[in-house]
Amino acid sequence: MKPSDISKEIKRLVDLIGYYNECYFQKGISEISDYAYDQLLEQLTRLEEAHPHLKCSNSPTEVVGEQPSKGFEVVYHQTPMRSLAKTYSEIEVMQFVERVKKMFPNETVDFVCEPKIDGVALSILYEKGRLVRVVTRGDGEKGDDVTRHVAQCLPLPQNIRGVPSDPFEVRGEAFMSKAVFKALNRARKAKGEPLWANPRNITAGTLKALDVEGVKDRQLAFYGYGLYGSSYTCPTQQAALAVLAALGFSVPPTYKVCRNGMEIMEYVRYCAWHKKDLPVEVDGIVIKVNTLDQQDRMGTTAKSPRWAIAYKYQPESASSILEGVTFQLGRTGIVTPVAHFTPVPLAGTMVRRASLYNADALARLDLCLGDTVFIEKGGEIIPKVVGVDRARRHRDGQPIRFISSCPACGTLLHRAAGVVAYYCPNKQHCLPQLKGTLLHFAHRKAMDIDTLGPKTVDALLEAKLVQTAADLYTLPYDAVNGLEGFQTLSTQKLLAHIQASKTRPFDRVLFALGIQHVGETVARKLALHFRSMERLQEATEEELLQLPDIGEKIVQSILGYLQDPYQQTMLHALQAAGVQFALPEPVDTLLPFASKNFVISGTFQKFTREECTKLIEEAGGRVLPAVSTKVDYFVAGTKVGPSKLAKAMEWGIPILEEVEFIKMMA
Ligand code: IVH
Repeated sequence: MKPSDISKEIKRLVDLIGYYNECYFQKGISEISDYAYDQLLEQLTRLEEAHPHLKCSNSPTEVVGEQPSKGFEVVYHQTPMRSLAKTYSEIEVMQFVERVKKMFPNETVDFVCEPKIDGVALSILYEKGRLVRVVTRGDGEKGDDVTRHVAQCLPLPQNIRGVPSDPFEVRGEAFMSKAVFKALNRARKAKGEPLWANPRNITAGTLKALDVEGVKDRQLAFYGYGLYGSSYTCPTQQAALAVLAALGFSVPPTYKVCRNGMEIMEYVRYCAWHKKDLPVEVDGIVIKVNTLDQQDRMGTTAKSPRWAIAYKYQPESASSILEGVTFQLGRTGIVTPVAHFTPVPLAGTMVRRASLYNADALARLDLCLGDTVFIEKGGEIIPKVVGVDRARRHRDGQPIRFISSCPACGTLLHRAAGVVAYYCPNKQHCLPQLKGTLLHFAHRKAMDIDTLGPKTVDALLEAKLVQTAADLYTLPYDAVNGLEGFQTLSTQKLLAHIQASKTRPFDRVLFALGIQHVGETVARKLALHFRSMERLQEATEEELLQLPDIGEKIVQSILGYLQDPYQQTMLHALQAAGVQFALPEPVDTLLPFASKNFVISGTFQKFTREECTKLIEEAGGRVLPAVSTKVDYFVAGTKVGPSKLAKAMEWGIPILEEVEFIKMMA
């Protein structure tokens, strides 16, 4: 970058961060995810470090951020309320631990790990045991007096008996529990009021509210993590937490003293797993040097103490700007709306798309282009849009409506009674549906036609050589050979693979048909129960419903498919092509060697090799001529073929001598 570009970039970042700071600290709203904000700050820090002469005097990397709010009394802190160095990297936590250990080579160093509560930092001043003032962190030097707000909605020890008369200060985090947050939002929803985005926003909003009386129902809580006062000279952070609890304060619901980086990371991971069960939103772990004397000797930078670091979890929910909605057509014709937004990191990956499920879900969200949407990655892999911030909607934002005709072929969409999904009924000619159906048919777990990939399917469809899966089996060699990208060898290979797929068992054929809701497991159950397509086609609704784990939705889908004349014609053609439409007669699984393969080698005392073969076959087994991976047992007489034996041993095939073989037969 040219120096002028660097300077411009620094200015851009300073302005942008300044804007987000104002939103966050003045209005109590976060227009950007914490993660994205931290990334901006990190970019700025890196540029400033590389070009110190371009650093502005009021850089947000130097100041904590918050400016006093209008209408509040400004109070200077006795000692600055600093921020914490943050990282999203486990390696940086390990480096922090190493740095600390190096500073005190001859001393024991341990660390207190506490959850990082996602709330608002407060300083609470006590004189003669009485609460006199509560102040927000503000810019670190001075904050807003929120004593009156706190009196309305945050229960704190008011009069602490039996404490020294010297003033002391408790620092910690005000927050709203997840349960209260949910209940408040539920009530707002019922009244049609806009919802709060997250517990932190409502906590900040509550403490900034101009109408102090109006925050009575907000029910905030507080965890203390710092105690300052001349009468309280706790030797460690652990001791300070114990004293805070004895004074009547709640302290973080979990914390741990760790001796090294390994123990810290173990706790960090444990909390990542369990934080959903905590009553409060936790966005990371704060790792603090335990001994306060060591903390003092490490000191602080202008912004944050050197004795602590905050490891932040990648967010599991994020907000982003909705850039558009597309409508995706699946192989069964169902149309799914998909939201596209500015990429955001979410639980370890960058996400830019999320399913909006169906027309009803889309209508419920009531989205407009440019909206700020909330995205979550819950238990599922696919992220979902869970809400929209109406308060930040632009007036000219274009509303998003579900489409009425197929995005691919223009056919009017249908919706079956009682079903949420809209679908394109044009399954015979709608190209994405045909392509999806053929690709599913050829899938590795279905007919396993290896060479029939997306490009080939496109070429076959475009040349109108196939329309249904059955057409694959009558593909003329010359027509395929003439297609772009196909030569003698590739044509032979494709046709051979297609022909080979005729041996796939009936359960895979059933799955390959792509009947909606009939996955591999259901297909296997149907095949095992009915054993042939003919029997399945005769099955009644009652009969189908009696099968375990096959419910109404699946049954309706199967019946709909089998009764559809278009599918009936296709099924006939598939059968005529020689695809497996039945399972083979069951082998008697009670026989001792049922479906076991043997190789016999050498001569035996009690029987000839022919008699041995007969014995095996009568017991349900098969005798193969050579050792291969399919072989289950190697029966060895005397004068065994040495290379056969070596191969069997190499492949770990159990070797049975005559006596053992006879025992097994018995
Ligand atoms: S210790 C010198 N412990 O994180 C700062 N902070 O970015 C000492 N926070 O302003 C802070 N949970 O609002 C500390 N267990 C915890 C915390 C915690 C949340 C917040 C606090 C602080 C911010 C620092």
